[in-house]
Amino acid sequence: MKDRIINWRRELHQIPEPSGKEFRTKEYIMGQLKNMGLSPVEVGETGVYADTGKNPKVALRADMDALPIDEENDIPYRSTHPGMMHACGHDAHMAMVLGAGYMLAEEKIPARLIFQPSEETIPGGAKKLIELGVLDGIERIFGLHVDPTLERGKIASRKGVMMACSDEFEVEIKGKGGHGAYPHKTRDPIFISSLIITSLQGIVSRNVSPFSPVVISIGKIEGGNAFNIIPERVKFYGTVRTLKPDVKEFVKERIFGVINGIAGTHGAEARIEYRDGYPALVNHPDEVRTIEEESRGLFEYVEMEHPSMGGEDFSYYLEHVKGAFAFLGIRNEEKGIVYPLHSPRFEVDEEVLLPGAVLLTRLVRRYEDKKD
Ligand code: NI
Repeated sequence: MKDRIINWRRELHQIPEPSGKEFRTKEYIMGQLKNMGLSPVEVGETGVYADTGKNPKVALRADMDALPIDEENDIPYRSTHPGMMHACGHDAHMAMVLGAGYMLAEEKIPARLIFQPSEETIPGGAKKLIELGVLDGIERIFGLHVDPTLERGKIASRKGVMMACSDEFEVEIKGKGGHGAYPHKTRDPIFISSLIITSLQGIVSRNVSPFSPVVISIGKIEGGNAFNIIPERVKFYGTVRTLKPDVKEFVKERIFGVINGIAGTHGAEARIEYRDGYPALVNHPDEVRTIEEESRGLFEYVEMEHPSMGGEDFSYYLEHVKGAFAFLGIRNEEKGIVYPLHSPRFEVDEEVLLPGAVLLTRLVRRYEDKKD
């Protein structure tokens, strides 16, 4: 079983695909599910689910997409798709759910295996899959995400909010270009953007309570062509992380206020495109306890002290059914497995894959055994 799961992970690692374009991945998963004697059902363009028995009550979810990163690992199962890499461990997630499905199917224990596309890109695949009915008849759902900051052998989760609401925004400041020597004849969008970007941090530090975590990060700025030309426009792009819906709405409103206010003050125009992202991931406490209990003998359970400011569209499932999400430790300094998620040198300690799959089967059994 261990070799089988590692092999699935390695084969998937070689065919990473972007969000929403997981066609080969879907074919591969469907092939493996059919080999187990299951009848996979396609959902949407690239999603798949399969039931290991009749009327399952528990679902296990794996995400399928990879990232536009050039892999720098020198390994025999390196990515064969140039510029794409499974640098977030979704290959490992799929392999573990396949492994759990294999074991559950052999024992004739019903579970729904959900392979979900497009976790990395807003609006995400989860919402669409739910609309298409993947949770019909399901009462509970579980998901794992590998975590290279956590030692191999540990598993971490948290009752209540575990991950942040993650929004994105795109801003264009339209000023008036001109010669760098005569700034008074322009409306300098670089100067104005710099004031806006600085002031956005004032929302975090001056507008929101220090007891409500908020992150605003600008990750990209575009504008200008030469050292002595003031450009016509500047664009910048950012992400917003919050933990509560009311704080998110307040921060969103303030972002519009600050940007429009400062642009207006300096005679420029602002165009803001704000994209609401995934809601905060809120675990159901009893199901977190289940993960803790069922981890015994497989992993050391750690209750996270505070939520992660990362985002996950697993949050949508938890708005519909009970369940919980957990981080599975894959860090191994001896093997050099220390690189963060989304790094071109990200790796997974594959020793966790079998116990991870076994844990998933235990989570299903816990609720299926109780059924009459
Ligand atoms: Ni991920």
